[in-house]
Amino acid sequence: MTAILILHGPNLNLLGEREPDVYGALTLEEINRRLVALGEEMGVEVRTFQSNSEGALIDALHDARRWAAGVVFNPGAYTHTSVALRDAIAAIGIPVVEVHLSNVYAREEFRHTSLLAPVCVGKITGFGWRSYALGLRALVERD
Ligand code: DQA
Repeated sequence: MTAILILHGPNLNLLGEREPDVYGALTLEEINRRLVALGEEMGVEVRTFQSNSEGALIDALHDARRWAAGVVFNPGAYTHTSVALRDAIAAIGIPVVEVHLSNVYAREEFRHTSLLAPVCVGKITGFGWRSYALGLRALVERD
């Protein structure tokens, strides 16, 4: 069965209590539950992982290349800063979709830059938890 990693970066463990007007009221656990259910509907295995640490996210990407068909990745603030995560995505040779809950282009200018988007197959931003669902579907249905 196809397996997909849903990867969450820094501060996303606080979803539900963190700036709910920006990021919504759902907890990370609830979002993960919905994505696993969507995966079941689509016949794919969904595994999830969150870390606040750049190194742990890099390790998760490296590990995913051995078992995952692709990654749906919300890199949080590392989106805007991390050359190391960009290099990891470029290195692993499996497709990665960048997703964001908020519309980063409607927010501060520093959020308009992604160091990761050029090495991802696509990017979905602004649809709340559904950004992950859209990313998962796009990855699985992609030709
Ligand atoms: C975010 C957007 C980032 O700019 C921010 O640093 C986050 C969350 C989002 O999902 O909207 O932590 O990735």
